[in-house]
Amino acid sequence: MTKVIVYYAHPGHKHSHVNRYMARAAAAVEGVTYVDLYHDYPRFDIDVNVEQQRLLDHDVIVFQFPFFWYSTPSIIKEWQDLVLEHGFAYGHEGDKLAGKRFMVAVTGAGPSDAYTHEGYQHFPIRTFLTPLEQTARLCKMQFLAPYVLYGALRAPEDGLVEPHVDGYQQLLKALRDDRYDLTAAEKMDVVTFDKLPLRKEA
Ligand SMILES: Cc1cc2nc3c(=O)[nH]c(=O)nc-3n(C[C@H](O)[C@H](O)[C@H](O)COP(=O)(O)O)c2cc1C
Repeated sequence: MTKVIVYYAHPGHKHSHVNRYMARAAAAVEGVTYVDLYHDYPRFDIDVNVEQQRLLDHDVIVFQFPFFWYSTPSIIKEWQDLVLEHGFAYGHEGDKLAGKRFMVAVTGAGPSDAYTHEGYQHFPIRTFLTPLEQTARLCKMQFLAPYVLYGALRAPEDGLVEPHVDGYQQLLKALRDDRYDLTAAEKMDVVTFDKLPLRKEA
């Protein structure tokens, strides 16, 4: 069994219409470790030793969050700045994360056609996520295509919450059970609930 950890970060958890259900679904997956960063560290006093040990103990690291100003909610930046230390995650002898996989699960209000060169966001969502992608690379981890929900504010009325949450749970189970098709995922810019790169159950 592949060890998967989900880090959830949402400062407005109580007002969430999508991420809170994704978080609940992730926490319910057997064998997946679930961490709510804003709940555990309300004062941003991240315990570096605990977090580094968590990373050592898992093979796949997933960060789940709503897209805020083309980036992550701030606690994820704080976590990165403190936990991904020189000599641990990168630099001289900093190879402790080598070979692990890193994935982002992100929801954004902008619709998919906005996240194009012609659209009002001007860039694909992958472009905004390049700092995370390169962070993973520098730490010798494989960056997996992000699991994305566009138009997240309209998701309840569009009936997209349930399929997105179900897809997320399927994705996490597939990562856990080595049924995630990494070769197919490599060719995708983003993963969505209607295009999950899963292999059939054995
Ligand atoms: C401070 C803030 C910044 C945001 N920035 C973006 C953004 O850059 N791009 C985007 O598509 N949506 C942006 N949004 C919308 C959120 O991503 C959206 O509300 C969220 O994904 C909905 O999921 P939830 O119901 O689980 O909170 C922003 C929202 C807030 C509150």
